Amino acid sequence: MWYESQKPIIALAPMADMTDSPFCCVCREVAGDDFVIFREMVSSEAIVRENQKTLKMCEFDEVERPIVIQLFGASPEIIAKTAKIVVEKFSPDGIDINMGCPVPKITGKNLAGAALMKDHEKAVEIVKKIKAENLNVPVSVKTRLGWSKPEEILEFAPKLEEAGADLITIHGRTKTQGYSGQADWGMIARAKQVISIPVLANGDVKSPEDARVCLAQTGADGVMIGRGALGNPWILNDILIAKDTKVRNINEIIGVVLRHANLHLERYGEKSMVTFRKHLACYFSNAVNKPRVTGLKEFKKELMKISSLDELAMVLRKLKKF
Ligand SMILES: Cc1cc2nc3c(=O)[nH]c(=O)nc-3n(C[C@H](O)[C@H](O)[C@H](O)COP(=O)(O)O)c2cc1C
Repeated sequence: MWYESQKPIIALAPMADMTDSPFCCVCREVAGDDFVIFREMVSSEAIVRENQKTLKMCEFDEVERPIVIQLFGASPEIIAKTAKIVVEKFSPDGIDINMGCPVPKITGKNLAGAALMKDHEKAVEIVKKIKAENLNVPVSVKTRLGWSKPEEILEFAPKLEEAGADLITIHGRTKTQGYSGQADWGMIARAKQVISIPVLANGDVKSPEDARVCLAQTGADGVMIGRGALGNPWILNDILIAKDTKVRNINEIIGVVLRHANLHLERYGEKSMVTFRKHLACYFSNAVNKPRVTGLKEFKKELMKISSLDELAMVLRKLKKF
């Protein structure tokens, strides 16, 4: 099992529209094999309806392993059915259930994501039903501290453990907080003490130093990194070797950007370069990478206008000249 082989566990967080196959392949190429990838969430309802776009989102390259596919939904029966379909069709190394997404589209009508923190019975039922399928892969849950009060996790996490969850990732914020304030690593430490399954601490880990402090403060079995890895896939290895943060060489960043752009294009087609702009923004804004060059503001504006690989290469060539 992927979570047994290494301590601390390093995980790439699931991020909708970001942790797709091209980005995950780049993370592997840049940062090696010693971390687990949680792919962006997919709708369980869409999978049972055999929605082709959603099924395609579950595809991965073998180099991405170990890889966990995250499902969201509110019906225990449908999620369990989906987990079975996904395992049989794609053979991922784990199934994760989203119990933390605060977006109204997810929590609203369907009462999925973070809404499951308000319905412990249903959350428990989801875990039990998936485990009853005997899929032979770990079943994990990613959640927050609570809906509105951080202490809610102290009641919720033991219930998930009792239901059979193999691992829990805790984002140190409540649903009400959204992304505001600081992740409360102290409360993750308290949650870790009330359960015995592995815990991944998540929230605001943006450097190897943050990871060291987070692991020491929480006593967690590992850390999961989200926004800190966008535009900075190197972090997933830097943490392991406890390498200090340093500004990257601009040519190294450009090489990785072009490689990522090529993989994106291969997967989504020539018109997709417009949707690659979100990654470009990260590569040149992430505080760690931010190239110390003059004219960066103008250069970033030009990057946000590219719509083909040629245009991207042309703009990047200008940066090389700075
Ligand atoms: C763009 C974006 C998309 C996200 N999508 C998901 C998702 O699909 N599933 C999930 O459980 N969390 C999702 N999250 C939350 C992250 O996995 C993570 O819990 C959160 O960003 C806090 O960690 P960080 O401070 O390391 O970014 C998303 C976050 C961002 C910024």
